[in-house]
Amino acid sequence: MAGAIVDKVSAFARRHRGLLGFTLRKLADANLILFPINEKKGRETLRLIRRVKREKRLLQAYHQAYNLIRAVEATSKIPGDLAEVGVYKGGSAKLICEVKAGRALHLFDTFEGLPAVGSTDAPIFREGKYSAPSVDEVKTYLQGYANLAFHVGLFPETAGPVQETMFSFVHLDVDLVKSTEDCLEFFYPRMNPGGIILSQDYAFSGVREAINTFFAGRPEPVMELCSTQCMIVKLGNLYECC
Ligand SMILES: C[S@@+](CC[C@H](N)C(=O)[O-])C[C@H]1O[C@@H](n2cnc3c(N)ncnc32)[C@H](O)[C@@H]1O
Repeated sequence: MAGAIVDKVSAFARRHRGLLGFTLRKLADANLILFPINEKKGRETLRLIRRVKREKRLLQAYHQAYNLIRAVEATSKIPGDLAEVGVYKGGSAKLICEVKAGRALHLFDTFEGLPAVGSTDAPIFREGKYSAPSVDEVKTYLQGYANLAFHVGLFPETAGPVQETMFSFVHLDVDLVKSTEDCLEFFYPRMNPGGIILSQDYAFSGVREAINTFFAGRPEPVMELCSTQCMIVKLGNLYECC
């Protein structure tokens, strides 16, 4: 009897996979799953994410935004600048700004949407997707925050000004395999020990493969989060190096 019910539920889930995915996304967006709001800090974080969502600037779901905020906060003791590659309308950048304290934040984007898509990229992406209104509009949106640098164009061609910079936190939200590889190549050697790389898009097989391959020969574990994100903490002795 129990087996028959399980079979029926599985068959239903298979038939309505799209509907199930849609419902789960809505539940996550409505904050009905995955993060603590039973204490003051959680509720404040929820209010912040809601505000940025209302401003229609943020692509990320609530729980992804929550992880981003907490990861930035977790690096507050680590020396180094912060960076985001994949700014779009500035929603996730605003979340970072709210908790970065005095640290410098470097914002990289073409501001003309995604670059060329490769054969291992997810089919939902196409060149030019997420073209932002204009970099000036994003600058206006973030104008209340100090210590921001905008780097407009294709990364890593735009990385020249930060060749000598060390980082405590890097947020990658670039969707594509080639962009992910280029970002890891550039930022990994520039992360201070204890610094965090948080990447979106780990649920896409191409991006997952790129990240796993990059770290296969390196000591850092890649920690998958329950939100299509993954997180890497740079190893090493902070007190010896900085
Ligand atoms: C999903 S959007 C970012 C969304 C944003 N982080 C948010 O949460 O609202 C992806 C962005 O990555 C940018 N992008 C991808 N690869 C890039 C590269 N190699 N150089 C510069 N920008 C890139 C695109 O222009 C696009 O704006």
